[in-house]
Amino acid sequence: MRKSDNQNIMPSTTQVNNENHLEIGGCDCVELADKYGTPLYVIDEQTIRRISKQYKEAFCKYKNIKMLYASKALMTKAIAKIMDQEGFGFDVVSAGELYTVLKSNVDSKNILFNGNNKSIEELEMAVDNEIGYISVDNFLELALLDNILKTKHKTQDILLRITPGIECHTHEYIQTGHLDSKFGFDLTQLDEAIELIKDEYTSLNLKGLHAHIGSQIFETQVYYDEVQVICKEFKRIKDKFNIELTHMNLGGGLGVTYTKKDTPPSTYEIARIILNSIEDGMKKYNIREPYIFIEPGRSIVATAGCTLYTVGSSKQVPKGKKYVAVDGGMADNPRPSMYQAIYTAKVANNVECNNKEIVTIAGRFCESGDILIKDIELPQVQEGDIICIFNTGAYGYSMSSNYNRVTKPAMVLVNNQKSDIIIKRESYDDLISHDIVPEHL
Ligand code: LLP
Repeated sequence: MRKSDNQNIMPSTTQVNNENHLEIGGCDCVELADKYGTPLYVIDEQTIRRISKQYKEAFCKYKNIKMLYASKALMTKAIAKIMDQEGFGFDVVSAGELYTVLKSNVDSKNILFNGNNKSIEELEMAVDNEIGYISVDNFLELALLDNILKTKHKTQDILLRITPGIECHTHEYIQTGHLDSKFGFDLTQLDEAIELIKDEYTSLNLKGLHAHIGSQIFETQVYYDEVQVICKEFKRIKDKFNIELTHMNLGGGLGVTYTKKDTPPSTYEIARIILNSIEDGMKKYNIREPYIFIEPGRSIVATAGCTLYTVGSSKQVPKGKKYVAVDGGMADNPRPSMYQAIYTAKVANNVECNNKEIVTIAGRFCESGDILIKDIELPQVQEGDIICIFNTGAYGYSMSSNYNRVTKPAMVLVNNQKSDIIIKRESYDDLISHDIVPEHL
């Protein structure tokens, strides 16, 4: 079976140059750190484009498909442009993501809006911009959306988000398809929702169902099962309501390789299992070939991204660990402290070296829990060294904060020996630009 880039730890263009420096996208990481400062998010354009093509190739046999990039993993105007050029549509979950995608001149018909508590303002923005689909999550949203549409004399294609009752072995916080989840309609509530759409909420065009079973998934069987659950519902709904649903959104979730222990399937394996299940489901439930959406986020951008940090102080605990502190941490990458996520790193200015030691890479934020990597073997590090942590492209910048009033890092896109800033480093003035001091103070 062919491999895909989500199975690599490092971007596909990673090399070690003559100076024993790490090179990504043809750019020397030490020079990048010098030019743009650290912490610095580095995104390899080629890796994003390669994995996007590997998704397309994997599903190329199936014509009725739209791939939607899950914006929550990383959304900036440059990323939106790249994904649009690669032929992806967009899954957005907030007015902010929607706004960014729209400002990148993406055709609004290629946008699907997800989320369990969309505000009236967000729904109105989606309707005013005539986006392709809204995945409606609950009864309140059905009523709100219908009301907005009727007031504006419009109609909207929708999917209903369901909890398919599938548990996968990923971190509890990123598991979403199991029954006790805050997302979507329980299957037992689906008929009531359909009846309401049929009789009352007549501005809603129900096209199909949407599920998402979790994130950082290594199993393939769960996707087979997910498709079967939806096929079965299509058949049941056809029999009971004489409504033929056609659209099936299978969500995202394909895992990536943060360390050698991670063994995610390739895009090709995922496609094979999904397409097999669709074929089986069509036969078993006597349904027509569905139109499918998939919504990968992490697997598109994680591997393409890494973060460069500068080493500052170190501390050798007597008879204990050696801590090496860097100039970033939990505010630019909350995943280690939030999900106990484990990452891989190299010293960008001294990649290959025999003199190694075990260190713990600590962040600079005022919390003992701000540890980026525990007990990693690295060449002996000293102040001023540049550490590169791999696989930070997804859910790093998008979950970053200004904790401790530290400014957010810049992000550069590298390709063919060229680097371009795609997010400017925040300035101190940016930090205080939203502060207001009431007059009486
Ligand atoms: N579609 C829906 C409806 C989702 O809820 C998600 C992710 C995706 C697609 C994209 O899933 P992906 O392909 O990225 O796994 N912050 C967590 C991940 C949360 C994922 C939430 N939903 C983390 O850093 O691990």
